[in-house]
Amino acid sequence: MEMIQRGQGYILQEISMQHQVSQRVMTREEYFEQLELDFRYARNVNDRRLAGENIPEFDVRSRPYDSALRYSPHARDEDFVYLRKWLKPQPGEVGADFAAGTGLITFPTAEVTGATTYAIDPSKGQLEMLERERDSRGASAANVVPIHVFPDSKTFFEEIEDKYDLDLEGQLDYITSYGGIHHSMDQLTLFSNGLRMLRPGGRIVVADVGMGTSLARYFDNFVSPNCLTGHVGNWLSRKRLHQLSQELPMKVTRVKLEPVTWHFEDILETSNFLKGLHCDDRSSLRQISDGVEKYLKYKHEPRIHDISMNWHMLFSKMVKTEGRVAV
Ligand SMILES: C[S@@+](CC[C@H](N)C(=O)[O-])C[C@H]1O[C@@H](n2cnc3c(N)ncnc32)[C@H](O)[C@@H]1O
Repeated sequence: MEMIQRGQGYILQEISMQHQVSQRVMTREEYFEQLELDFRYARNVNDRRLAGENIPEFDVRSRPYDSALRYSPHARDEDFVYLRKWLKPQPGEVGADFAAGTGLITFPTAEVTGATTYAIDPSKGQLEMLERERDSRGASAANVVPIHVFPDSKTFFEEIEDKYDLDLEGQLDYITSYGGIHHSMDQLTLFSNGLRMLRPGGRIVVADVGMGTSLARYFDNFVSPNCLTGHVGNWLSRKRLHQLSQELPMKVTRVKLEPVTWHFEDILETSNFLKGLHCDDRSSLRQISDGVEKYLKYKHEPRIHDISMNWHMLFSKMVKTEGRVAV
């Protein structure tokens, strides 16, 4: 593999290696057809949600979300490249992925550790997709264990014990979370639950939309009005993380906005992907592309794919310190 001499060179090199093994599993036409079905299903579930049924947001969104990731299986490869750099997972380490969704981060982490990796998410729909993916990956993914619970539930440990007969207190080496914590309106309880799961010295690596960034503006001004369920973001910031650490036995060791980019063959693929990912059955492909241009910007990376799009994420690392978690 040729060395690419640039600031992010090692990342690009890893991604192009991943691209050699990534296979597109759906043609554009198949994706269009699938998305039509997914949106029909999503509108149905959303109507029940609006009528008062207690249905988590991602039980509405899970099918188009999963189809987008299947349509462009390589688009978000950089997410794990950065996550891995921050977490440095080691063989044998047991961990949990909070807001695991369909497992985009969970599976590659589990592959590196080769150990039990709990995929924790409040959406049954997302976890069904994760289970399907786990089964299709075979033995190498058998160590991924889905856990259906809100990571910010006040009865988190009781629910896990009741449903799965598992006691996960003080058992884990690490917690990851990618792009999910902004959905929680009770981040203090979420971090508290995470810390209680960790062994002394265990670490938490979170990547999420940073408050005040162009990505937060994109979500607030473009995704929120167009996503079928709407979108509320309780964005993280350096200040917010330090505030949380005042109330919890954890030390924030590093916070940094990382220049993550997502990669596509062309603009049409980018818009199609975001349509499914954000359950946007309202905007035209042109409007989605204009939204990206306005808030995020495209960047040309001809060595990988023709199009790359800025998706800068706030990464943070926390370490569990001495003391009781008493929230
Ligand atoms: C944008 S997806 C991210 C999924 C996955 N980590 C990824 O990168 O593809 C957000 C996930 O957060 C989950 N979620 C929703 N509400 C949550 C909450 N209160 N606490 C934690 N996770 C939540 C959703 O079910 C969904 O799977």
